[in-house]
Amino acid sequence: MSFKYRAKRFLILSALGLTLGAGVAGLSILMEQKGTGDKAYAPMVAPNIGGAFTLINQDGKTVTDKDFANKYLLIYFGFASCPAICPTELQKITEAYQALPKPWQERIQPLFITIDPERDTPAILKNYVELFMPQLIGLTGSVEQIEAAKKAYKVYGAKVPEGDSYTMDHSSFIYFMGLGGKPLAMFKAADTADTIAKTIPTLDGLD
Ligand code: NI
Repeated sequence: MSFKYRAKRFLILSALGLTLGAGVAGLSILMEQKGTGDKAYAPMVAPNIGGAFTLINQDGKTVTDKDFANKYLLIYFGFASCPAICPTELQKITEAYQALPKPWQERIQPLFITIDPERDTPAILKNYVELFMPQLIGLTGSVEQIEAAKKAYKVYGAKVPEGDSYTMDHSSFIYFMGLGGKPLAMFKAADTADTIAKTIPTLDGLD
């Protein structure tokens, strides 16, 4: 085999390798793009998530799930004095909501349900939800009412002593509920506002 031939074969194989490499890279980029608005992205949600609730809004008025029967619900459970996770997730919900087309915004009610009803009075929640967007409704209630809502949504939340007070340890998911309360999606911390906004209009089970 002449040097010239070997050099030529080396060049051909290198070019083939580059083409294959680029192809694999392109494929992995395509696969990574799934999950941002692709129909195939379906954030898993257990079918038994959700249910009836009776709670108190930031104006001190009793509200139930029936008051939101004609709305899609974007629900987050947390507490107003949470230092990091809750503000991050509520900011994400705000950005996702604001990124959705106007007709979608009008069909969605974002809700923040406290897991710390002893500290999160309606007045505290009123100040808190205003930090995010005017459409966000804050919900509190008696300890029993909040426990019932947590149970319905399979939410974990518990007091953890901190100094002479306490903080709350809690699960962190964003629930997207269909009309009539059917769970359609459960977004995780890794899902961005962009992913949430692009995914919602593609979900199965929309009316
Ligand atoms: Ni939190």
